[in-house]
Amino acid sequence: MHRTVFLIAAVCIAMPMIATCASDKKIFCYFASWSVYRPGKGNFDISEDIDPFLCTHLVYAFVGLKNNEVNVLDPWGDLPPNYLGGGRNGFGKFNDLRKKNPNLKTLVAIGGWNEGSKQYSSMANNAKYREHFAADAAKFVIKHGFNGMSLDWEYPAQNGGAPEDVVNYIELLKILRIHFNKNKLILSAAVAPTEYSASLSYNISQMVKYLNYVHLMTYDFHTSSEQKTNLHAPLYPGSEEPSNHKQANVQASVKYWLSQGCPKEKLIMGIPTYGRSFTLCDPAKNSIGADACGPGDAGPYTRQPGMLGYNEICKLLHQPGQSWDAKYEYEREFQYASSQSQWISYESFLTVKPKGAFINKFNLGGAMVYSIDTDDFKGTCYGKYSILTDLNKTIRN
Ligand SMILES: *[C@@H]1O[C@H](CO)[C@@H](O)[C@H](O)[C@H]1NC(C)=O
Ligand SMILES: *[C@@H]1O[C@H](CO)[C@@H](O)[C@H](O)[C@H]1NC(C)=O
Repeated sequence: MHRTVFLIAAVCIAMPMIATCASDKKIFCYFASWSVYRPGKGNFDISEDIDPFLCTHLVYAFVGLKNNEVNVLDPWGDLPPNYLGGGRNGFGKFNDLRKKNPNLKTLVAIGGWNEGSKQYSSMANNAKYREHFAADAAKFVIKHGFNGMSLDWEYPAQNGGAPEDVVNYIELLKILRIHFNKNKLILSAAVAPTEYSASLSYNISQMVKYLNYVHLMTYDFHTSSEQKTNLHAPLYPGSEEPSNHKQANVQASVKYWLSQGCPKEKLIMGIPTYGRSFTLCDPAKNSIGADACGPGDAGPYTRQPGMLGYNEICKLLHQPGQSWDAKYEYEREFQYASSQSQWISYESFLTVKPKGAFINKFNLGGAMVYSIDTDDFKGTCYGKYSILTDLNKTIRN
């Protein structure tokens, strides 16, 4: 036994490019480009705030789809001044981070929840449109200096899509692969994690052939759209949970994707740097499963009811005069806290360690973090980027 362990370690050191060692693990960091408009200490600056050595891949979110071509959603933020409507050159600053770390790769993500599914569905349903989009996508990636693209269509055959999306999605990935291979570009996709959702959208054994990486969005399992408080990204199910909740955790999702033929080295496990919040109906009833009467209050930076960045949460918990009751749920490996009517479940530097250990144990490709701009990037609570730093230590050492 000891001998085997020693041999594997030796192979890792001798052939770091070939062997799958802990240090080969990838960390994909999404950057929410609208974070550059957040106020105060929530304001995120690409050049100043991104540590180019904490992630192996950076993902710029999002661009959109229009007339079967890639559509820049925020020309002022994304493009340089010499473009029509351009200004702040987000793409340029982002890709310039590779000058500081030549091993860093950058991707641009197309889609996201707000884009819906409809346009993607009609583009994928027509061979000519697919071909046009695939050629345009490769051209776009090269023109703006990225290394690849993440297709974040949420989701085929759901949210405004059509049943034939499942088959068309594979055809779309095939043609994208052809165009991306010509220029050695990376192609990944963000996907629905649970069996009940993924089985509506994907032919997993087929799709993984054409993708370099699969970003498993293992978070938002429970949000304030449900009327009970619950943990939004627990690693494990709870023994007391009802059977219809047993898929709503990281472990069940990872196991499902592996069982359907996703190669473990392509599977990238999602980790949220944010929490999901609820407003309790009765502040005295604040356990998991307590009645919730709506989303929690919006935060000062993210300004969106029902979610808070970790940088907002850790500040709240630290604020003098506020009595937050913070609990660690050991069985499911996640945290939650409440104060008066507010209830938040959240990832932290504590919960990320068992998740990192899980990635190592299953020898997955790595982690995907959504999104770097809501980790504590200023270091106001426990040092800069406390979630990402501990993730990096756990899976890349
Ligand atoms: C996936 O596609 C293959 C090849 O077309 C087909 O044989 C298989 O039945 C499909 N699987 C699912 C789950 O749809
Ligand atoms: C992340 O881990 C890698 C591998 O151990 C290390 O080289 C790098 O310096 C770490 N990044 C930071 C910012 O600590």
